[in-house]
Amino acid sequence: MFDDELHTMTLSEDGSYTAYSKEYNEHYHSTKDGALHESLVKHVIPAFKIMQNRDEINILDICYGLGFNTLATLYYAKKNNITSKINIYSPELDSTLVKSLKNFTYPNEFEEFKNIILELSEHGIYDDALWHPEGICRSARAHVEIFLGDAREYIKRFPDEMFDIVYQDAFSPSTNPILWTQEYFSDIKNRMKKDGVLTTYSTALATRLALHENGFNIYINSGKDFRDATIASLRELDSFGNAVDMEHKIACNPNARPLRD
Ligand SMILES: C[S@@+](CC[C@H](N)C(=O)[O-])C[C@H]1O[C@@H](n2cnc3c(N)ncnc32)[C@H](O)[C@@H]1O
Repeated sequence: MFDDELHTMTLSEDGSYTAYSKEYNEHYHSTKDGALHESLVKHVIPAFKIMQNRDEINILDICYGLGFNTLATLYYAKKNNITSKINIYSPELDSTLVKSLKNFTYPNEFEEFKNIILELSEHGIYDDALWHPEGICRSARAHVEIFLGDAREYIKRFPDEMFDIVYQDAFSPSTNPILWTQEYFSDIKNRMKKDGVLTTYSTALATRLALHENGFNIYINSGKDFRDATIASLRELDSFGNAVDMEHKIACNPNARPLRD
């Protein structure tokens, strides 16, 4: 059974299950947008749209939780014949949760990753070829590491300019503020490549200010079938026309401040 004294499974509106945390009083995903759908449209698809044609893609997945962003990345890469080597690094504080994920009811889309889910749940690491279609041995490989501990400590272990993509998917800024401060985003920025991209569901002005103060350009990620989200990038993105005018936002909200440590 997945459910325990801290978590219950909840059916979300796209038909995939997410979880509710009794400790944080929050769902792991937007139940309205749907767990799998949210992961794909707010994180994986926009990030990969920007990161095309790279031999290797390094991803920081903050935080592992139920692993949807990691698994949706593998699903998307396989479905779209992406041949890049994909390395995913993901911190998670809750080791009991990770161990219980072998019992979680994942969507059918993740059925082919059953062995990866099991390896990650039991050993916290997976490294193998993702697929070998008939006759061609493609070079695409996946490497996934879960770090059981504090994300703030974990990111300090990486060298500067390591990550192409950061999925910023912690519990909300009001619930888990330590993973949304200006100082936190400064540490993240230092470990991102200059042309890297950060995705997050948060549209809070305080989040955007914390990113803006660190030199990120801010874009609205919008679509008909999901609530608006945010894309942040150190370089200007031609493919995302809808940039947020942060100077205008600041002028209209002179008392707004980013969260601080
Ligand atoms: C919203 S959930 C992540 C959802 C996840 N991306 C998914 O797809 O299922 C937030 C996760 O952050 C973890 N967490 C909270 N504080 C943390 C910290 N300081 N370091 C690492 N993980 C943390 C929680 O245990 C929880 O599993």
